[in-house]
Amino acid sequence: RPVAADDGLCTPTSHRRRLTKVSVVGAGNVGMAIAQTILTRGLADEIALVDALPDKLRGETLDLQHAAAFLPRTRLVSGTDLAVTGDSDLAIVTAGPGETRLDLLQRNVALFKKIVPALAEHSPDAVLLVVSNPVDILTYVAWKLSGFPVSRVMGSGTNLDSSRFRFLLADHLDVNGQDVQAYMVGEHGDSSVAVWSTVSVAGMPVLKSLQESHGSFDEEALEGIRRAVVNSTYEVISLKGYTSWAIGYSVANLVSSILRDQRRIHPVSVLATGFHGIADDHEVFLSLPARLGRGGVLGVADMELTEEEATRLRHSAKTLWENSQLLGL
Ligand code: 2OP
Repeated sequence: RPVAADDGLCTPTSHRRRLTKVSVVGAGNVGMAIAQTILTRGLADEIALVDALPDKLRGETLDLQHAAAFLPRTRLVSGTDLAVTGDSDLAIVTAGPGETRLDLLQRNVALFKKIVPALAEHSPDAVLLVVSNPVDILTYVAWKLSGFPVSRVMGSGTNLDSSRFRFLLADHLDVNGQDVQAYMVGEHGDSSVAVWSTVSVAGMPVLKSLQESHGSFDEEALEGIRRAVVNSTYEVISLKGYTSWAIGYSVANLVSSILRDQRRIHPVSVLATGFHGIADDHEVFLSLPARLGRGGVLGVADMELTEEEATRLRHSAKTLWENSQLLGL
């Protein structure tokens, strides 16, 4: 006998809890890796996908919907019109060409002028998470264009660089990456700063133990690891044409902390004015360890940096600020 409504399996509409909705703008490799990871981890009740190419969008949507039997129940909606994102709790912007960073700026700013005000209008209470590159400047652009409070705008930033850093360190030390604590901060990309003083394995500071066991550590080897983190993006791009899986997991990791109000600390792109000597009149976004929860950025940690690390950070901040000033926002 087929299941009928009076079997008690159907919940009256009035008893339904509020659904969690996430929008992903841009159904390219990065957007789809993010959507797929959110889906697999069951982080949202509804996912809205937006892309300018209707056939590609419909194909991606159907392809994911066909996996319904193997996934947590999630409603998938999609459209070329941003209206489909209405009432999102979290809106993720991945639109724009992938690949490298600062050179994409002008094209992506023009795109953001079309996307962000409409997103903000359809979801005035959402948290905005920018993934498009160059992510730090575009997070600033999104903040300006959205009119949102700064706590509700962030960029995926160096959460991914930090994961690459942890992976390389874990490989080097032959331990599990999840036991490695290590932060990269600053610009997502070439001028990112590896905060060596924070590196620890299961709570044991790595630099200190290297110093104790070897009397010193090899500065060049450390810089080599930082450079390897930066170069790993270019390596993947030159091999497969784009990066997607790591950014997908990295963003889903942020989505989980935000929507589940985890209050975990992630290095993400936030307004860094006043931190580490960044000038008070420079509105600039770059990655610093931030506590994330349902309200977005709940706080930014004033981490201890060496003078050299702080100098590097200020240098990135200055370059990013100068670039953003050319945009006239
Ligand atoms: C990445 O780091 C290209 O920003 C992208 O994978």
